[in-house]
Amino acid sequence: MALLKPLPPGEAFWKRVQRGELGTLAALEALGGEPAGAGLENRAALQEALAELEQLVGLKDVKQVVEELRAYIEIQKKRSRHHLKNEPLVLHTVFKGNPGTGKTTIARLLGRILKGLGVLPQGHLVEVERADLVGEYIGHTAQKTREVLKKALGGILFIDEAYSLGRGGERDFGKEAIDLLVKGMEDYRNDFVLILAGYRREMEHFLALNPGLSSRFSLHLDFPDYSIAELMQIADLMATERHYRLSPGAKSYLRRFLLEQKQKEAFNFSNARLVRNTLERAMRRQALRLSKKPLEPTRDELMTIEKTDLAEDGYES
Ligand SMILES: Nc1ncnc2c1ncn2[C@@H]1O[C@H](COP(=O)(O)OP(=O)(O)O)[C@@H](O)[C@H]1O
Ligand SMILES: [Mg+2]
Repeated sequence: MALLKPLPPGEAFWKRVQRGELGTLAALEALGGEPAGAGLENRAALQEALAELEQLVGLKDVKQVVEELRAYIEIQKKRSRHHLKNEPLVLHTVFKGNPGTGKTTIARLLGRILKGLGVLPQGHLVEVERADLVGEYIGHTAQKTREVLKKALGGILFIDEAYSLGRGGERDFGKEAIDLLVKGMEDYRNDFVLILAGYRREMEHFLALNPGLSSRFSLHLDFPDYSIAELMQIADLMATERHYRLSPGAKSYLRRFLLEQKQKEAFNFSNARLVRNTLERAMRRQALRLSKKPLEPTRDELMTIEKTDLAEDGYES
């Protein structure tokens, strides 16, 4: 996008228009332009967020949808400059997937991308769950939900395990929170984006029971479980970011461990979160192992996670 320096619509500006130095479109663009500098800054922030998105392992479909959304918003802007009709943007989204599949990570990136595109002024993420919205007595839920909505204005409101709002049925205060959210979506139509997240089956069941809510979500994103190969790539990425690396022995141990956990846990397998927690524990164990050595550890030793740092107590070392 060509970034025209917005001119103040003063005398000099109109003179340029009169002299024909500024075409109609350029003049309109300058008049309706973003404040000086802001456009450029947003551009850099946008590129940074998009690069981080690209860096994430897997998530092919999610990346594709985010990319489409970005393109759609940019083209809409260009279309409106040509006075072409645009569909209203509905960005409220349902994220469906197991724990640790990248839902919060993507929501945070989406906030930054929407800010970069100028769709949201702040683009911050407010992450809540049932207890942050639902109160214990009459009037309490309204107060809590309104407070949360207020915090999220200008950014993204992310409700984790959103299906739990439907727990307890008609007389539960969760129902009241849902109604208030629907009203909030109406009242602050362009001021925030709502993301409901949770297990696929629970979310689908919940939305089927709440048509007033579900009709407001046109986007549904699936977050599939990561394959073992993807989890190993994530482990590599996480280790590298922290200036660590896994020895070949540690790698093959980790691969076996993840496979075993995936089979054992099936529904509770926490994907990339398990990788992060396992790695962070290994870093602490490595530190303990190195601090017990009489000699000053080398740079190589400081960086390397060995199999013994990963092994469960008494499991195998
Ligand atoms: N595709 C990915 N590539 C790299 N790291 C990831 C990826 N998905 C998730 N992670 C990391 O795994 C951890 C858990 O991810 P998170 O977004 O909190 O999952 P969820 O919200 O679905 O439970 C975070 O530390 C995150 O940075
Ligand atoms: Mg999460």
